[in-house]
Amino acid sequence: MLFFKFSPYFHSSKKQQFTMNSIVTNDYSIHLDTNKYKALNQHIELLSPTKIVVLTDSNTHQFCLDYFNSKIEVKCSIEFKSIPAGERFKNIETCKELWQFFSEITLDRKALVINLGGGVVTDLGGFVASTYLRGLAYINIPTTLLSMVDASIGGKTGIDLDLLKNQIGLIVNPKAVIIDTHYLKTLPQEEFNSGVAEIIKHGLIHSVSYWNKVSKSKIVLDETLDGVIYQSILIKKEVVEKDPTEQDLRKTLNFGHTLGHAIESYSHLNKNFKHLLHGEAIGIGLILACHISNAVTGFPKDTLDKLVQVYNSYFVKISFTKTNIDEILNLLKFDKKNTNGKVNFVLLNDIGSYTIKGDVSLETIYNAFDFYLEL
Ligand code: GLY
Repeated sequence: MLFFKFSPYFHSSKKQQFTMNSIVTNDYSIHLDTNKYKALNQHIELLSPTKIVVLTDSNTHQFCLDYFNSKIEVKCSIEFKSIPAGERFKNIETCKELWQFFSEITLDRKALVINLGGGVVTDLGGFVASTYLRGLAYINIPTTLLSMVDASIGGKTGIDLDLLKNQIGLIVNPKAVIIDTHYLKTLPQEEFNSGVAEIIKHGLIHSVSYWNKVSKSKIVLDETLDGVIYQSILIKKEVVEKDPTEQDLRKTLNFGHTLGHAIESYSHLNKNFKHLLHGEAIGIGLILACHISNAVTGFPKDTLDKLVQVYNSYFVKISFTKTNIDEILNLLKFDKKNTNGKVNFVLLNDIGSYTIKGDVSLETIYNAFDFYLEL
């Protein structure tokens, strides 16, 4: 059994540049402050690309592109490409269409791809860029809360293999990430709440102080949101820098995702089941993971109860039949953390202290579903 605790503080970076509010990782900067587009334009000038492709989906093309275009200043030619919105287009066919487009417009190795969108656009756009001509530079401009606090940070790029989430991919860092909550103004509430699930996860895996902050009152789009996003990004940065290739610690970012991903995939696979957004499934996954943790490691019941209260303030409860649960558990065999056919669960001993456990019994998992169903 592996047992670790997070460091209680964040390291300050000597490489800080642009402004105090930029977060500098080992490899690239994340800009959140008022000078973020100045920073973006400086990055582009430094990269001096031969051509830029701005990738959007049909939503961000409609709601975000004009605003983005009003902020960007470039000397080279710029092309725009939009893909259909939705997880079901995060596949090899969409990649092929983009690679063909890159070929038609004769992108060379000095081209830059800017991904303007949510997790599908940043994951897929990063993957397409990183594999074309053995790797083009890319910059992420996340437009959803989920992508701001999770998907756009940390270099995971990839696509789904049919219904298996992110089964194909690479870890390649972007050249920069620009976080602008302006884009959240047009985001549907359920998409916003989907991002909140990852913020709640950060609270659980990191520290009592952050958990208290994010569980105390509802996270909404107001002047306090930037601070929450900033702290969530710092947590993700701390984890990714200590374990970029997910040998151990980075697995904590998957807390709640073992069952959460299986539930999400199942909800897309079974046409009679409500189609769940990533965070809607992860919200359930967090409750199940905390319940399993309570049974296996003694994770505090009062924190589990508080999590249920937080969950209820963002999400509607989902019903599962016994058959649904059996079929969801069957999907666990595809979890990317599995070793030797064993499902490795990330469990919490307490807030900010984790254990990787490979022998969670089926009974413990069914009990967790029973707990959720009785809420
Ligand atoms: N979204 C989990 C990770 O980046 O590791």
